[in-house]
Amino acid sequence: MRRPVIAGNWKMHKTVQESINAAIGLKRKFYTFAEADIVICPPFTSLSKVSDQIMDSSIMLGAQDLYWEEEGAFTGEISPNMLKDAGCRYVIVGHSERRNIFGETDDDVNKKLKVALRHGMVPIMCIGERLEERDSGMTLEILEKQLARGLRDVAKDEAVRIVIAYEPIWAIGTGRTATPQQAQEAHRFIREFIERSYDREAFSKIRIQYGGSVKPENIAQLMAQEDIDGALVGGASLDVNSFAEIVKNAVL
Ligand code: PGA
Repeated sequence: MRRPVIAGNWKMHKTVQESINAAIGLKRKFYTFAEADIVICPPFTSLSKVSDQIMDSSIMLGAQDLYWEEEGAFTGEISPNMLKDAGCRYVIVGHSERRNIFGETDDDVNKKLKVALRHGMVPIMCIGERLEERDSGMTLEILEKQLARGLRDVAKDEAVRIVIAYEPIWAIGTGRTATPQQAQEAHRFIREFIERSYDREAFSKIRIQYGGSVKPENIAQLMAQEDIDGALVGGASLDVNSFAEIVKNAVL
């Protein structure tokens, strides 16, 4: 059985104090919680304060990005050591906003994944197609390319620790969710790619999240699909009550 993983990506939202308040709110609801891994990904400035709040609870901390060097003259970047020092166990890699707004490539994603794994963090590797790619029937081809390049030279024992997030770009922040069937088809394809690249054990172990306009109302149907193991939640994770409802409905 794969353990569900529900992650909240706060993106560029919340001051330090707002982050602390949200963390306290979530901790009240999920101080102990056995049914799923719960991860919150605040902005960098809030990481260590949020870590102080959730440290002794079942909620885990994640970052939204990292750089692949350990230290040096890389103005504006954050290293894996710094993230671990701030209490992060997870890190999002290759979010579509990083790819589309900041020009991140599959090669960058590959370097970031490897450094996160080397430092014992769990990378959440985001992949997904644009609307025009879906409309022209290229979805699976795009996913295959992102997976092949992103996972290049990642050994099986490391690959199985990665969480893959399938996030169709047209569903992110648009209110337009993929249907459970569309999501399931993509997730199955991803799992089969993992089997082809590694083996049957990796196929069964790898956790694949869906992301894109996940809400309390649609999470249960998504989670009911065989190959959907969790969600990466943006907008609906900003509010403590809606994120808490998503977590609860995910494990019903
Ligand atoms: P959304 O964002 O839930 O606001 O659509 C998802 C994401 O970007 O991970």
